Amino acid sequence: MKKIKDHLFWKAKHAGFKARSIYKLIEIDEKHRLIKKDQKIIELGAHPGSWTKLITEKIGSGGALYSFDLSPLEMNLPPQATYYQEDIYNFDFGSLIIENGRFDLLLSDLAPKTTGIKWVDQEASYNLTYKAALLAQKTLKNNASALIKTFQGPRTNEIVDFLKICFKKVIIIKPISSRKESFEMFLLALTLNSKKINLTE
Ligand SMILES: C[S@@+](CC[C@H](N)C(=O)[O-])C[C@H]1O[C@@H](n2cnc3c(N)ncnc32)[C@H](O)[C@@H]1O
Repeated sequence: MKKIKDHLFWKAKHAGFKARSIYKLIEIDEKHRLIKKDQKIIELGAHPGSWTKLITEKIGSGGALYSFDLSPLEMNLPPQATYYQEDIYNFDFGSLIIENGRFDLLLSDLAPKTTGIKWVDQEASYNLTYKAALLAQKTLKNNASALIKTFQGPRTNEIVDFLKICFKKVIIIKPISSRKESFEMFLLALTLNSKKINLTE
């Protein structure tokens, strides 16, 4: 489905960002203060790179960012960022933790290629969201948090319930900057209680 380039698309482009999705992260981060200097962060769904640009600026040279996407990034990366052009279903996150330790924050803007058929898109998004939720539980430090994009669907509550077991608080966010017709929303899972659950994938 071809997306219309609205005023936020052009605003993002003029500000040097590759995608309008940057405004959703700015909006959520301004309210919840998630991204901080020197943090070690995992980013899922990074192409073309607008979130990546903002995150690397905010963590500064003392932080570390590990970004993932099926597609190549469309920007030059600063030294504190590493990009993996990988399918998150196949990547060995266990080895990433062994090499780098656990993470302070997981940010997921993962989205399937949409077909326009609502239930197909919802199911594909459900699978990506569930994978991101599992990865948050697996890769984050105790007390760390995750922000995960999803398409609202009949099974969204299953993931919210799972996150509520692993994290102290879960907030459902529908950003003002999301397209009006979009059924996307973000699940903000705050303060991992890593002792509470330990699932293996
Ligand atoms: C909304 S876009 C991300 C936009 C990006 N956050 C930005 O601001 O520039 C969603 C991304 O999820 C990626 N994606 C979907 N399924 C994936 C998978 N299995 N593994 C890795 N990336 C995936 C897509 O390739 C797509 O680039």
